[in-house]
Amino acid sequence: MSEKEIGRFEHSIASFEEITIEGKSYLRICKSDEVFQKKGKNIYFDEDVQVALFREGSKIYAVSNICPHQYAAVICDGLIEEGTVTCPLHGWIYSLDSGKALGSNARLKTYSIFELDGFVMLEKPEKNTPLWLRNF
Ligand code: FES
Repeated sequence: MSEKEIGRFEHSIASFEEITIEGKSYLRICKSDEVFQKKGKNIYFDEDVQVALFREGSKIYAVSNICPHQYAAVICDGLIEEGTVTCPLHGWIYSLDSGKALGSNARLKTYSIFELDGFVMLEKPEKNTPLWLRNF
């Protein structure tokens, strides 16, 4: 991973207010009314770290926006139904609670998320390199 890539990620993280609760870091990511029912909102940190936010009923979810099937950043455009998101490219279905794909071992990374005083607080993401890129 180049220093330029790390710099871009750190710059993105620094653009949000950070608070610590019980030793865990969260980012004030947006206003609560910017996350609509059953419509994804993508938070872009860098090419490899993107978080899709969803609201369904009274619950709010945060999962990786990057589908592990073809490493496509499309989950925020997925169909939301009964606690799941369906990838718009090939229809893989993931639990929004666990990130686990139905019927396979694939998994979306999940993030802690909650609302506080009209804002959405997201677990501070860490820089990661996808497994398939780690050996290059
Ligand atoms: S890229 Fe998501 S199911 Fe194929």
